Amino acid sequence: MGAIAGVYSADATFMTYATSRIGMRKVKRHKNFELSLQLTDGFIRPPRDAQRNWLMNRLLKELSDDLEALDASAKTFVKGAEPADMSDRSQAALEDTEIMEDWQIDVMRAMATEACATPGDILEIGFGRGVASDFIQAHGVRSHTIIECNPTIIERAEQWRGRHSDRDIRVVPGLWQDTIGGLGQFDGIFFHTYPLNHEEFIEYVFKAATFAEHFFDAAAAHLKPGGNLTYMTMEIDSLSRGHQRALLRRFRTISMRRLTDLGVPDSTRDAQWAQETIIIRASK
Ligand SMILES: C[S@@+](CC[C@H](N)C(=O)[O-])C[C@H]1O[C@@H](n2cnc3c(N)ncnc32)[C@H](O)[C@@H]1O
Repeated sequence: MGAIAGVYSADATFMTYATSRIGMRKVKRHKNFELSLQLTDGFIRPPRDAQRNWLMNRLLKELSDDLEALDASAKTFVKGAEPADMSDRSQAALEDTEIMEDWQIDVMRAMATEACATPGDILEIGFGRGVASDFIQAHGVRSHTIIECNPTIIERAEQWRGRHSDRDIRVVPGLWQDTIGGLGQFDGIFFHTYPLNHEEFIEYVFKAATFAEHFFDAAAAHLKPGGNLTYMTMEIDSLSRGHQRALLRRFRTISMRRLTDLGVPDSTRDAQWAQETIIIRASK
């Protein structure tokens, strides 16, 4: 093995080792954790070593800051109950609280404001209990198209539409994946579904930057220029870099709204355990 040089940075918690064989190794020590990073020689190679060093120091600092922020927010988490049964929610007759828990009502109100920033033609994905649909209508939108896949909820949506017969409302039955293609373009898209089964949970929640990511391409294709997509995230006090990148690949601007004091109960069956979240408005 080549010679190892250990160098402390100005922040004495960083230590950099450089060897001809192992490329670069960095260690950041904190009283509650230790971060260790090792790069092969050819990986992340800007023109100067000092630039590489700067990038890696910044990365470790960011990760370290994130750990401290997570430590603070973990202390505010509710315990939560057993998660909802997720074997197949596409057809099941669900109780109101299984469709959406009450603490989300204020989130729906805030999202409707974002989606209806231009109160023109609005597309809503997932009718659920119809809470958001009422908020969307309260913005006096020109038209309101709702895609819903669950037969019992479609029935509910049709009854709700019947109570608003003076408005331009259309209920489109089916999965958005099968139906959105022919619907044209919208000024606002309100996206609020949930995983319909275990496979969707793995693909859309575990493997994704955020649940709505699997909808981003469809949203971008169905927004008019300047139109807004809105959705809720499980992000706590800021947006992760992976999430921002996924958005910036498809949208021109992103705005975030931090909602606090959500009132998530200890008995929640949702996967939201923090009392705050971020809702997004992404514009094309
Ligand atoms: C959380 S609920 C929506 C709650 C609603 N925002 C409200 O305010 O009451 C999610 C809804 O999305 C529907 N849904 C889930 N996946 C869907 C999909 N792929 N296509 C269409 N609807 C879907 C569910 O059947 C359910 O009605």
